[in-house]
Amino acid sequence: SIVYLNGDFLPVENAKISPLDRGFLFGDGIYEVIPSYDGKMVGVNGHLKRMLNGLTEIGINVDKSIADWVSLCEKLCELNHYGALGIYIHISRGTDTKRHHAYPEGITPTIFMMTFEIPVPSLPDSKTAKGYSLISTEDLRWQRCHIKSTALLGNVMHYQQGHEAKCNETLLYNNKLELTEASSSNVYIVKDGVVITPPLDNQILPGITRDILLAILREDGSIKIEERVVTLEEAKNADEIWISSSSKEIAPVTLLDGNIVGDGKVGEVWQKAATLYSKNKF
Ligand code: PDD
Repeated sequence: SIVYLNGDFLPVENAKISPLDRGFLFGDGIYEVIPSYDGKMVGVNGHLKRMLNGLTEIGINVDKSIADWVSLCEKLCELNHYGALGIYIHISRGTDTKRHHAYPEGITPTIFMMTFEIPVPSLPDSKTAKGYSLISTEDLRWQRCHIKSTALLGNVMHYQQGHEAKCNETLLYNNKLELTEASSSNVYIVKDGVVITPPLDNQILPGITRDILLAILREDGSIKIEERVVTLEEAKNADEIWISSSSKEIAPVTLLDGNIVGDGKVGEVWQKAATLYSKNKF
């Protein structure tokens, strides 16, 4: 595949980054994943704004406009022959001359971009859709989960817990037994027809799929939404659970900690919401 590194497009085998890069040494960087289907990106402005917010928050300054980023993304999709692609953008603080914790002055951020294949979404069908299985565990990541940091060890360790339990994802709750998100997805429950999702704060990533889905549902008006604290107890008694991310879109969950969710089938509210999402996401 063709990747982008610091101004050049080149085969991934030829892309080289110094071991003194702070992304490598400290996980000191911001990343983004933008879905693209045949060259049409989903939520590109939201993704890029979140990325610029993250860069500002950690004090990395990159001299590029949103329009510059969009054209880099478009070019990379073209060079990788389109299809269903996740566009990965990784910006680290840059390469230092030594390992030292303080932000160095006057170094240039490292910019790396690549694409990877993502599933081609089919029209949501509750009869054939695969139900995800989750395990739940206490969220032991850091207290700045709104920053899409490249330091993903906390997320990776939680994801691995689910993987080792033969589940698809790990649902996380804080020390008050309130849901935060999943290790690489946002979470929603459905109770009596109402979609409920945890509010945006430092405990979760402000997912772009979440943002687009909530906007579509509000515009449609036929499904009620609440952004509020959701307890683990409520999740256990929910009619439906969903998780969302750029690569999986809106995924229905049918098993939580080995117990069936609702009646154990992919839900009707999911069918409706995921259909609205797939028709209106662009
Ligand atoms: N993961 N929460 C976490 C912790 C995530 O890592 C992600 C995305 C999401 C969903 O965000 P969005 O809808 O903007 O993709 C929520 C990406 C895709 C990843 O790390 O691969």
